[in-house]
Amino acid sequence: MNSLIQDAHKAGERVGLKSDKIVINGGKPLRGRIEVRGAKNLATKAMVAALLAESPSVLKDVPDISDVGVVTGMLEAYGVSVTKTAEGELTFDPSNVERAHFAKIDALAGSSRIPILFCGPLLHRLGEALIPDLGGCRIGDRPIDFHMDALRAFGAVVDKSYEGIRLTAPNGLTGAEIELPYPSVGATEQVLLTAVRAKGVTELKNAAIEPEIMDLIAILQKMGAIINVEPNRVIFIEGVEKLEGYNHRALFDRNEAASWASAALATEGDIFVGGAKQAELMNFLNIFRKVGGAFDIHEDGIRFYHPGGDLKPVVVETDVHPGFMTDWQQPLIVALTKAQGISVVHETVYENRFGFTDALIEMGADIVVHKDGLESVTRRVPRRPLEQAAVITGPTKLHGADIRVPDLRGGFSHLIAALTAEGQSTISNVGIISRGYEHFIDKLRALGADFVYEG
Ligand code: EPU
Repeated sequence: MNSLIQDAHKAGERVGLKSDKIVINGGKPLRGRIEVRGAKNLATKAMVAALLAESPSVLKDVPDISDVGVVTGMLEAYGVSVTKTAEGELTFDPSNVERAHFAKIDALAGSSRIPILFCGPLLHRLGEALIPDLGGCRIGDRPIDFHMDALRAFGAVVDKSYEGIRLTAPNGLTGAEIELPYPSVGATEQVLLTAVRAKGVTELKNAAIEPEIMDLIAILQKMGAIINVEPNRVIFIEGVEKLEGYNHRALFDRNEAASWASAALATEGDIFVGGAKQAELMNFLNIFRKVGGAFDIHEDGIRFYHPGGDLKPVVVETDVHPGFMTDWQQPLIVALTKAQGISVVHETVYENRFGFTDALIEMGADIVVHKDGLESVTRRVPRRPLEQAAVITGPTKLHGADIRVPDLRGGFSHLIAALTAEGQSTISNVGIISRGYEHFIDKLRALGADFVYEG
C-alpha cells in the first residue's frame, strides 16, 4: 500500500469509516441544514496547550475528526488522560505527564503536522522532545525551519536522529526576539506555546494573526499567560511560572463552513450552515457574492444558496489573514468551472496546492495551472516566490470519473465536483476527508445527495 492510501485508511478508521470509497450520482442540488463545530486548526492546538497546565482543561465543540484522534493518541502517549465528558466535550488531565514510547508516537506520524507543536510544551514538562517525521497534506514541501529556528532562539538544542528530531533544553528555555520570515500559522503557534512558560519576555515579529491563533491566545490567557497582540503583526509574551487548565468553547470551523457554502453554490443548492459566523468569513463572503452566490446571516448560522442566474468569474489571491484563505480556493474552484468566463486563482501560500485540479480536468473542467504563477494587472499583492496560478474557463459541464483524493481540501472539492457532474463518480481515499470534515457522509445524506457508501 502506498503511504497516501495507508494514511487515508488510518484516518478513516479513526472516525469509524468502514469503506474508503464513495460512489456519487451527480446532478442533484444539496439542500438542508448541517452544523459545523470547532475548527480543526484550533481544536488540535488547544489540545496541545492542555499539556502546559498543572490542572485539567475542558474543550467544548471538539469536532469528531481524525486529526483530533491523532492528537488524542499523542496526548495519551505522554500520560495525559483524555476523557469525553459530554457530546463534543473533551477533558484533559495532565497530572501524570511522562515520556512516551517513541514507537507509540511514531505510529501516529505521517497523518498530521500537529506533532511538531508538542516541542515547546514537552521541553517545559520533560526537558526533552522526540518528534517523528511529519505528515499532513501533500500540498508542498512544508518545511519546519521556522519552527526549529524559533526553538533554538529559546535555547533548545536540535539534533536529527534516525528516529526523527530530538530536542533538549540543557539550560531551560528563555524568552527571545524572533522575527518570522513569513507569518506562518504553525510557527506562530510554536512560539506562543513555548514562550508562555519561558523565562522572560518574547517579542515575536511578523506573526500570523488568523482567528484560530487569536482563539489560542484567548485559551492561553485563560490559563494564566500574559500575551499582548500589538499592531503590525507583533506579539509580546511575558513568560509565567505556572499555567492552570482552561475551559473553552472552540471557535467554529470557517474552512468547513466555506466548503459547504461552495458546495451549495456549485450544486445550485441551498445549505444552512449552523454555527457559521460572519466576522471570520467576511473575505470569503465577498468573493462568494461576487461569483453570484447569495447568503443570509442569522444568529445561529449562515444560509448559503444559489439565487438563480449565471455565475460570474473572479480573480482571487490566497493570502495570510486577513486575506482570502488558501483552504477556501479548492472548493470554490468547482463553482468557478460553472461561471461565465475566465477566473484566475493565484495561490501564494503553498507551492503545490493545485494538484487536485487534475481530477477536475479529467471530469471536463477547463483549468490551466501555471506552475510559476502569472503576471496580472489586476493583482492586489505583488507576485510571490512560491506562487502558482490556476486559470479556470467556464462554464463547463463536468462528467463522472474515478478519482482518488490527494489531500484534505482537494478531496472535498472532488466531492463537490462529483455532486455537480453528470453521471456516476467513484471517489477513493475518502478517509483523508475525515481528517478535517466531521461526519461528512452523514451531512451529505442530510443534504439529500445521491450516493452509495458502504459502511
Ligand atoms: N513554511 C516554511 N517553513 C516553516 C513553516 C512554514 O517555509 O517552518 C511555509 C510553508 O511551507 C507554507 C507557508 O510557510 O508555504 C505557510 O505555512 P503555515 O506554517 O502558515 O501553515 P501550517 O501551520 O503548516 C496551517 C493549517 C493549514 C492552513 C495554513 C495556512 C493547521 C494544522 N494547518 O498550516 O491548514 O492551510 O495554516 O492558513 O493549522 C488544512 O486545514 O487543510 C490546512 C492545510
